[in-house]
Amino acid sequence: AVQRTFSIIKPDATNRNLTGAVNAKLEAAGLRIVAQKRIQMTQKQAETFYAVHSARPFFGELVEFMTSAPVVVQVLEGEDAVAKNREVMGATNPSEAAEGTIRKEFALSIGENSVHGSDSAENAAIEIAQFFAGNEIVG
Ligand code: CMP
Repeated sequence: AVQRTFSIIKPDATNRNLTGAVNAKLEAAGLRIVAQKRIQMTQKQAETFYAVHSARPFFGELVEFMTSAPVVVQVLEGEDAVAKNREVMGATNPSEAAEGTIRKEFALSIGENSVHGSDSAENAAIEIAQFFAGNEIVG
């Protein structure tokens, strides 16, 4: 079924001017960018977004990284968009990511891994609502 998922192009990628290169990979995979904006995440936004990881040892580092430079938040639409996006992103750790994936080509480390993608349709809806109003999404 046609689905929406939430995506973030992370600071390591925006810093290296890779927004277009990441978008080309997403579009080549059949995902449509139906909403997109470049923002500077606040500490509060990052803490809320990653609340599920708040007990992890890397939480502080993660929040610091995500607020260190602009990010591009996006809504992607397509057939099985959640799974399709996770496939084109590749494994969280770039050293484990498959050939041709975004993380294999662009990610620097498990933390500086270029992109985020929702892990389920339920989380996608929650994440999209954190960053976009309904009228900002044009399918
Ligand atoms: P993301 O999909 O954005 O969701 C949680 C993030 O935590 C994940 O991508 C990684 O970038 C980050 N992360 C996971 N494990 C580690 C780790 N061991 N050290 C630093 N960051 C991590």
